[in-house]
Amino acid sequence: MFKIAISNQKGGCGKTTSSINLAAGLAYKGRKVLLIDLDPQGNSTIGLGIKTDNRQTVAELLCQEECEFKDIVQDTYIEGLHILPADVSLAVADLKLAQIQAKEFVLRSKLTDVNYDYIIIDTSPTFGTLLTNAILAVDHIILPVGLNFFNLAGMQNLVDTINHTNKKVGHLINHRAEILGVLFTFFKMSTNHSKRIFDAINELFGDKVFETKIPENVKLQESQEAAKAIFDFAPNSSSAIAYGKFTEELEKRLSYVRN
Ligand SMILES: Nc1ncnc2c1ncn2[C@@H]1O[C@H](COP(=O)(O)OP(=O)(O)OP(=O)(O)O)[C@@H](O)[C@H]1O
Ligand SMILES: [Mg+2]
Repeated sequence: MFKIAISNQKGGCGKTTSSINLAAGLAYKGRKVLLIDLDPQGNSTIGLGIKTDNRQTVAELLCQEECEFKDIVQDTYIEGLHILPADVSLAVADLKLAQIQAKEFVLRSKLTDVNYDYIIIDTSPTFGTLLTNAILAVDHIILPVGLNFFNLAGMQNLVDTINHTNKKVGHLINHRAEILGVLFTFFKMSTNHSKRIFDAINELFGDKVFETKIPENVKLQESQEAAKAIFDFAPNSSSAIAYGKFTEELEKRLSYVRN
């Protein structure tokens, strides 16, 4: 089972879009996939048309001892893709978590005995207990970088947070999350500015940078409004083709790393 978080503290750089479409791409390849929405904005949940009214969500899973995975997991319209949904109640949960013992390990422990080919976690742009829980629940992290929303300091902060979490708490359970790769989103190399950013990131992350780039494409926004993965909303669009290729590239890269 591969466990992957999609993170970057920079808001709006394509975390949710990549989470939804990677999860969908894997499910359409026949994999069994769990998408976890770990963001109080609930964008992955909304983007797949999942309702949370009168239902328990990730907030209860994290804060109520008796709440279990099976109580909150929901099917999506895509066969093989399940979701642990979130909504704004997760913001309160983040605060409540601070009072729970071993708060950093709650998500990890709630996922014991859960079996999928892939677990993909969409994280929020803020640092906090939720992000620590994600880092401690996964082996791999994908860092999406919007060429428009570039923030080298933000990327460095995330790398520092991952290293710090591994060192401070991860080692207690012999756990170490690593950056699997950097994914360019909102990609278009039209200006000198974007070329400079592209070169700087390539220099910093070397072969961690995925070959596939996700182009800037308005169909992605429209697909989320329509609560559909891009493969269903606009299967011939440049972004559907790119997310399809990215899914292939990711599986290839994972075939070389530990499971
Ligand atoms: N490649 C792209 N081209 C055009 N629009 C995109 C692209 N990727 C994402 N978007 C749109 O940009 C907005 C922000 O993307 P998204 O929600 O995926 O970012 P995020 O990193 O999850 O944001 P947050 O930090 O708020 O969670 C959304 O409206 C989304 O539809
Ligand atoms: Mg998001």
